Amino acid sequence: MEEKRVLIIDADAPSRIYLGRALTQRGYQVLQAASGKEGLILAWRERPEAIVIDPRLPDLSGEEVVQKLRKDPRTASTPCLALSSDPDPKRIASCLSAGFNEYFTKSAQNISKIFSALEQFLPIESPIREEEKKKQIPHGKMIVFLSAKGGTGTSSLCANLAATLARLEKGASIVTADLVLPLGSIASIVGYNGAVNLYTLTTADTQALEPQALKQKLPQILPWGFHVLAAPPDPEAANQIRAERIGPLIEALRESFDYVFVDLGRSLSRISLPILEQADVILLVVTPDSSTTLLTRIVLEFLIKKGIPTKRILPIINRPVGLEGLPKARVDEEIGLASIYTIPYLGGNVTVANQLHQPLIEKFSKDMIAISLQDIIRDVLKKMQKLREEMLTGGIYV
Ligand SMILES: Nc1ncnc2c1ncn2[C@@H]1O[C@H](COP(=O)(O)OP(=O)(O)OP(=O)(O)O)[C@@H](O)[C@H]1O
Ligand SMILES: [Mg+2]
Repeated sequence: MEEKRVLIIDADAPSRIYLGRALTQRGYQVLQAASGKEGLILAWRERPEAIVIDPRLPDLSGEEVVQKLRKDPRTASTPCLALSSDPDPKRIASCLSAGFNEYFTKSAQNISKIFSALEQFLPIESPIREEEKKKQIPHGKMIVFLSAKGGTGTSSLCANLAATLARLEKGASIVTADLVLPLGSIASIVGYNGAVNLYTLTTADTQALEPQALKQKLPQILPWGFHVLAAPPDPEAANQIRAERIGPLIEALRESFDYVFVDLGRSLSRISLPILEQADVILLVVTPDSSTTLLTRIVLEFLIKKGIPTKRILPIINRPVGLEGLPKARVDEEIGLASIYTIPYLGGNVTVANQLHQPLIEKFSKDMIAISLQDIIRDVLKKMQKLREEMLTGGIYV
């Protein structure tokens, strides 16, 4: 079967690599150019079946490129899709009137729309499609930790459940990514103070995003049994992060590791939403008090409105303070979804373990704490497995 060739013209190397890899995985052959002129030469010489262009190019504008393509008989009718970080309606209109068939803004969500558009223009025949459907489920299982309020224990649970899994599944490769912006705490919990973090990785060169390079680059934290992707070192760096690089980074993490734990804290932003949508499961951490349950209900309603199925959302009650608090039934009623687990108040244990940068499972290996962490992670694994099986039999994962 002949392969369909897609030319990507984009000045940003990480975007190019990300899209190129995704297209290759889906059975397309990929050509790449970093400037308008280079793109035109390749387009006329190779005559690809479709062209994806980021209109922001160093030499020509995307509009100029597409106009030249349209005027030349070799590419006059080649489907051209704009993939841009510019959401300005004026730019969209000018690109479409210059000759683009479609215009998409860069985001992890829109990638799947681009594939549907490409498939419409250049369908790949069915045997590959069936295989591709399976490949669309990312290798690495992603477990996202979210809360509606600060101080609920989200980061402690994220790090400790990842450490528990590392002990249960000895051979598994695990990464814990801290996406709490502008200031995260995973690094301080696990005791990492090295130089690699979300800021350095999303501003660095393209090599860093290659799955193999990524695994080597991210430090492995021995007592915890996982690699860590620390949050930016300060708010200044956090503000400079390029949002469009987060999607490709998460995708690369899921290719490199068997499990990706993500601490999102209480962020519901345009950066975190695609991550929540693509998660295998979301552990929604809630403390048993009315102000938190009220906010959690709002978060839950938002997630459901965004189309995230409730079976992917696993509320977990944590008691970081020694007060009585609401009983489970009340919490469930107030948030509007049944919580799956409850973690008791563990006194100063968590704080002390965090300060010593020690996983609870190690410090209290014979304790009830260790047993409940193990039960929780085993159950999460079982649920993820079931959801993935459903995805394979039930349709495309987007
Ligand atoms: N079950 C628990 N028992 C006792 N202390 C706990 C428990 N869970 C968390 N803590 C303590 O509560 C505090 C907050 O925990 P953590 O930093 O994990 O919460 P968070 O939701 O990530 O907070 P932030 O909003 O700052 O990101 C820490 O001092 C931690 O040690
Ligand atoms: Mg936190």
